[in-house]
Amino acid sequence: MSTPIAAQDAALPRLHSERVLVLDFGSQFAQLIARRVREQHVYCEIVRHDITAERIRELAPQGIILSGGPASVYEPGAPKCDPEIFQLGIPVLGICYGLHLACEALGGRVESFPAREFGRAMCHVTSPDELLAGLPERMEVWMSHGDQVSTVAAEFQSLAETPTCPIAAIKHIRLPVYAVQFHPEVTHTPQGSQILGNFLTRICHTHGTWRLGDFAQDTIAAVRQRVGKRRVICGLSGGVDSSVVAALLYQAIGPQLSCILVDNGLLRKDEAEAVIREFSNHFHTDLHVVRAEDRFLSALAGVTDPQEKRRAIGHVFIDCFADEAAKVEGADFLAQGTLYPDVIESGAAADGPAATIKLHHNVGGLPEDLSFELIEPLRDLFKDEVRRLGLQLGLPEDIVWRHPFPGPGLAVRCLGEVTKPRLDRLREADAIVVAEIKAAGLYRQTAQSFAVLLPVQSVGVMGDARTYEDVVAVRSVDTEDFMTADWSRLPYDLLARISTRIINEVKGVNRVVYDISSKPPATIEWE
Ligand code: XMP
Repeated sequence: MSTPIAAQDAALPRLHSERVLVLDFGSQFAQLIARRVREQHVYCEIVRHDITAERIRELAPQGIILSGGPASVYEPGAPKCDPEIFQLGIPVLGICYGLHLACEALGGRVESFPAREFGRAMCHVTSPDELLAGLPERMEVWMSHGDQVSTVAAEFQSLAETPTCPIAAIKHIRLPVYAVQFHPEVTHTPQGSQILGNFLTRICHTHGTWRLGDFAQDTIAAVRQRVGKRRVICGLSGGVDSSVVAALLYQAIGPQLSCILVDNGLLRKDEAEAVIREFSNHFHTDLHVVRAEDRFLSALAGVTDPQEKRRAIGHVFIDCFADEAAKVEGADFLAQGTLYPDVIESGAAADGPAATIKLHHNVGGLPEDLSFELIEPLRDLFKDEVRRLGLQLGLPEDIVWRHPFPGPGLAVRCLGEVTKPRLDRLREADAIVVAEIKAAGLYRQTAQSFAVLLPVQSVGVMGDARTYEDVVAVRSVDTEDFMTADWSRLPYDLLARISTRIINEVKGVNRVVYDISSKPPATIEWE
């Protein structure tokens, strides 16, 4: 997707009188660190590890956190930070690899230990300085490292140790530099938020002024000012992101908002109608529903390759959306539900880390030549913040907690050819999975739960007759960030109910299997 974004969104407020920067050294936890900081009401941004000290001085953060990372500091090409950062007088907290960097930069030795330490460890607080103030003398922490620091410069003071790691937490006696070998950002370090909280309040002296309520008010005011009397188009998908964008814009500009919902025939059971109903209940503004099932299904006829499916759907979506948008007179702006992780991963953030982690598959992406100015009011937010904002804006829990759904919809869960009868079969099975998980009270606990229709028939027996029918796979995963995921340990009784209901109620299916693959190496979707 083309993103002529930064310039336009400069008009949106930079809502952080206080902020903390996370320097990303390739850690799978960098985003988690930022989220944990924001949970303490301090605005936090992830930046490239090689950001200069000069640039940091300009950004004037209250604190700097050096993330962990997979590298070893002495490896050729290991990511380093500008050593001047430690001399800026801005408090620094190094985490894991960040500790190694701080020690190396300020005079210490890091050694590769033959046995990597991974998992829970008992940490003994030997010197409860500001960083570890108020913590129990012995606490559980989560370790995940190969290297560890063997010697620190005389100017470092040790604050904590574990049985295998004598330097588990340290502080510099002259500079405001702290570092920990363990990971305070993960939930396996139960006192982790208190440690981050100590860093933020006692060391960085932040006041915790970052509030979503203010964010909403300020964003609404900024959008109103930027749009003036003009009109904004917003694509609705029924997902939480586009619903929150629509809700924000509705509060900002009311009747100047036009929404477009493309019903591609690949949505979940009754989804298009539910979106229309919810939309009409909450917003009294212009809604265009494009009924395009036939167009999508003819483009998909005979297509079985997953990438081909995505491409075909992407093209038809753009055509449908552009045709409808052309009917909206005077629309200069297009609103999109881009989130902070998309901004980071696409490398579009001004100081953000390079695009490395995930190719983001935004099938709903629109080409540049639609010549709209983009409004992306959620581009500073994480998904959990978007959800909280949605609740604040009065959206129903049903929308706010809806599991994510891929842009290409059921087409990538209908393995093999996508036809209307196969989609209907999948829709029925999927509705049963979701209904039963909700009835068991596990919908909020699982991150994404759905059915997949396999292009496989298997033999069965029903009554006295032999059957040869489709197989449905059930997928349910637990994840915070969707980049890694584990399969949900659903209770057997629940799985049994799902299976019995699908086999009894969905014609043409005689077998149900449960997907017990984690990501990686499997992905969440099957295609
Ligand atoms: P995977 O399958 O890559 O999915 O583990 C990670 C998350 O991304 C969603 N997903 C998509 N979302 N267009 C989207 O908008 C797509 O083409 C697409 N493919 C996967 C998936 O549902 C999960 O939440």
